[in-house]
Amino acid sequence: MCGIVGYCGPRAAAPILVEGLKRLEYRGYDSAGISVFHDDALNVVKRAGKINDLRAAVPDQFPGSVGIGHTRWATHGEVNDANAHPHLDDTGRIAIVHNGIIENFQTLKDRLESEGHQFASDTDSEVVAHLVSSLYDGDLEQAVKRAITLVKGTYGIVAMHLDEPDRLVGARNGSPLVLGIGENEMFLASDVTAIIAHTKQVIYVEDGEVVSINSSSYSTTDLRDNPIEKHVDVIGWELEEIEKAGYSHYMEKEIFEQPESITRATQGRLDFENATGHLGGLNMTNRELLEVERVKVIAAGTSYHAGMVAAYVLEHLARIPASAELASEVRYRNPIVERNSLYFAVSQSGETADTLYAMRELQRKGARVLGICNVVGSTIPRESDGGVYIHSGPEIAVASTKAFTSQMTAFYAFALVVARMRNLSYSDGLRFLQALDSVPEKIGRILDDITPIIALAKKYARAENFLFLGRGINYPVALEGALKLKEISYIHAEGFSAAEIKHGPIALINDQTPSFFLVPDDSLRDKVVTSMKEVKARGGPVIALAVEGDVEVGRIADDVVFVPSIDELFYPFLMVVPTQIFAYYCALERGCNVDQPRNLAKSVTVE
Ligand code: F6R
Repeated sequence: MCGIVGYCGPRAAAPILVEGLKRLEYRGYDSAGISVFHDDALNVVKRAGKINDLRAAVPDQFPGSVGIGHTRWATHGEVNDANAHPHLDDTGRIAIVHNGIIENFQTLKDRLESEGHQFASDTDSEVVAHLVSSLYDGDLEQAVKRAITLVKGTYGIVAMHLDEPDRLVGARNGSPLVLGIGENEMFLASDVTAIIAHTKQVIYVEDGEVVSINSSSYSTTDLRDNPIEKHVDVIGWELEEIEKAGYSHYMEKEIFEQPESITRATQGRLDFENATGHLGGLNMTNRELLEVERVKVIAAGTSYHAGMVAAYVLEHLARIPASAELASEVRYRNPIVERNSLYFAVSQSGETADTLYAMRELQRKGARVLGICNVVGSTIPRESDGGVYIHSGPEIAVASTKAFTSQMTAFYAFALVVARMRNLSYSDGLRFLQALDSVPEKIGRILDDITPIIALAKKYARAENFLFLGRGINYPVALEGALKLKEISYIHAEGFSAAEIKHGPIALINDQTPSFFLVPDDSLRDKVVTSMKEVKARGGPVIALAVEGDVEVGRIADDVVFVPSIDELFYPFLMVVPTQIFAYYCALERGCNVDQPRNLAKSVTVE
């Protein structure tokens, strides 16, 4: 969603800001702007559209070495230049950028207007500029502090004032903000990708903290001006990881990274000697793990699908009742937190508002919530009671791929830990470990020859409707396959349990509506094959993902792609990868913007 970058230092600010915004593009946005101090003025350029439009609009000579930039994902007010950030107060002496939502903006705006302030946009964010201006008496940090005590909602804010031309002030409540420490230069950003080209030394700003920077120093305080001692973190990945490395798109790169990213998710976590898993960050003793009576996973989108797979594995392997629930639904239904329940909040970004708020609500009720997240230092892992980083490396494409398989990997390791404490024998544990360990190599084999999947995409990319059908542990994969296709190719796709189609969706079947069946050689295979025949009998085109050697499925389906054989619980890994590739090539065929699909944002920080 929205992105922030700020710079204070000796270099020209505009190129650094524009470059930083470019690196935030992946988060999804619809307009962008920068504001830079120069010659006793705040020079502002804002444009609806792409960063390249903004870049083209910034004059070659755009001097000034302190400034702020923003990518906006519209929530209040349409997408146009005026609504893009930075926003100024009406004296033109203050500029702010804001991520999040100001819930009481209308009340504040009415009051400010009655005091004579004139607004230039329809955004909620602009009130912050006017509010800070109305409270300014020579100290920007104090004015920001006073302003945010009056604001209800979520924010990551950075403000600048003409009277303090070597200073930026940032504040955070529910929307990420990170401080980057360089050599005689400082940065503020909503996401480290915006600044990693310049520094790896960062400080994560917490809710309720205010940070003030100039080119050579920084301070962090709370709203009562108490200084806060902050730990300097070092970003553990390289700039190259956010480059495309020769691939056409980030999504393609991330699909192909999966053998490696899954291996990273297992590193140090597979204990062959004891036939179990080893997850250091759970912050739970064996005794506490043994006392867990049920597991609940909360998440959104793709992470929710990983949670559904996890629930299946936990029940099957560890015999612990487990379920997954959409985080967005949890918070508002007054969830019952039972004793000895263990919750997992699963999130690639670690910032998804629905998941974060549900987690906080559960924690408030006394639940223990562990995080399964990718982005190190993001809010969910920091606020959770423990958890597992999946270490996928930066996932830049909006459509999540490698995070899904790594989230599953972390859950499989967890399921093994708790299963081995209960009824799983040493030899069964070892078999499970060996199967998990074989996943990267088997995915590698699928990736070695994707020509059959590309051919499928070429054949079916013009369809307007698609069904994805699977059963048991592969039912969530059907949901995920459909989600991926609709997200990036805009083909209407729905996932169902193959058994459910006869309860309604089969009415959709005609010769224009292909069905994509997931047919592993598991205990439900024959039932899935029966559903395939039902679709076939009604004239629907049938695509099957089957296991090498399954001649019968090859005969029934119009088109088939084979995956290697694996232990039945592990098919989600091998089934999902071809659906990702299929979605990717369908999107290419349709000329879609694969990495930044319309209307979507990488990290959804509003409810
Ligand atoms: C799908 C996708 C979204 C996210 C969802 C949750 O490709 O990217 O559905 O999975 O917004 O995001 P995280 O995992 O960051 O909480």
